[in-house]
Amino acid sequence: MGISTQSGGCLVDQISYQAWKKSKLQSYPQSVEELRVEIGGLVNLSDTEKAAIMVVCKRSNMAIYSCRDDFVDRAAIRTFAANFGLVTIDHHLCANADGVSELMVASEGARTGYVPYSSRGLSWHTDGYYNEKTRQIKAVVLHCAHDAVTGGQNALLDPEIAYICLRDEDPRFITAFEHPECMTIPANIGVEGEIRPEVSGPVFSYHTDGRIHMRYSARKKNIQWRDDDLTRAARSFLSEILDDDNGPAFLFRLQPGEGLISNNVLHNRTAFEDGPGHQRLLYRARFFDLIRASVNRP
Ligand SMILES: [Fe+2]
Repeated sequence: MGISTQSGGCLVDQISYQAWKKSKLQSYPQSVEELRVEIGGLVNLSDTEKAAIMVVCKRSNMAIYSCRDDFVDRAAIRTFAANFGLVTIDHHLCANADGVSELMVASEGARTGYVPYSSRGLSWHTDGYYNEKTRQIKAVVLHCAHDAVTGGQNALLDPEIAYICLRDEDPRFITAFEHPECMTIPANIGVEGEIRPEVSGPVFSYHTDGRIHMRYSARKKNIQWRDDDLTRAARSFLSEILDDDNGPAFLFRLQPGEGLISNNVLHNRTAFEDGPGHQRLLYRARFFDLIRASVNRP
C-alpha cells in the first residue's frame, strides 16, 4: 500500500515510482463489486471478515461492507472502526459528543448551514480538507442506516490512482499539488466570531510511512487556489479524471446496512430526495488514524 517518498514526494525516484505503480495497478479492483465484503455484525466481526476487509483496503484504500445487523447505533460504528486501528476520532463542529455524526437533512440548528446536512449534492472532496495540518483526516467510516427515496449515490476514487493519473500526465502537476500554499480555505466565521482560522496546505502530502495523503475540494466557492499556471492545469486535469463517466471512479449507492471504510478517499454525492417516513441517515466517523490491522481487540 505504501510508496517510498521523501520530502518533495517520490519524483526524485522514478524507478521506485514505476515499481509501486505497477504493483498498485495490478492489484487495483476493476469494478465496485470487488470492493464489497459481506459481514455478520458490526460489533462481532470475525477474524476472517476483518482480514477480508483489510485485503480490499490494501488494494484500494477502501472497502464496502454489508452487514446483517437489524439495528446499528453510533457505538457500533466505533467498535467496528477500532478493529482497524481507527480510534482517534475527530470531534468536529457538527458531530455528536462521541464524535460520530448523523448525516441527515437538518431543519434547524448549526447544521443547517452545511451542505452535508442538506439533500443537495456534494462535489468531489476528501473529508476535513479544511482541517489544519495537525488534524488531517486519515480515515472515515460511513454507514448507511436509511437510504433516500431517490439519489444519494457516491462516486469514489482512491487518491493513489488520482496521483498516478496526474503524475503520468505531467510530473510537474505533483510538484504543484505538493506546494504548502496550494489550497487555502478561508476562515469560517459564525455569528459569534471565528469558528476556524484560515487554513493553507498542499493537495498531496505524505504520511510518515510514505503513503500518499490527499486534501482536496472541487468547490468553486470558498477555496483559494495558488495563482499559478501549473496548479490551474493540474486542477483542470484532475477534474477531467473525476468527472469522466468512463474514468477510474467507482459509483455506488449505499443501501441500509452497508458502509464504506476508507483511508479518506476522494468522493462526491448526488442530490437526494427523502419521503414521508423515509429519511436518509448516514453515520459518519472521521479518524486521525490510518486503517491498519489493529493488534488490540476493541
Ligand atoms: Fe465527505
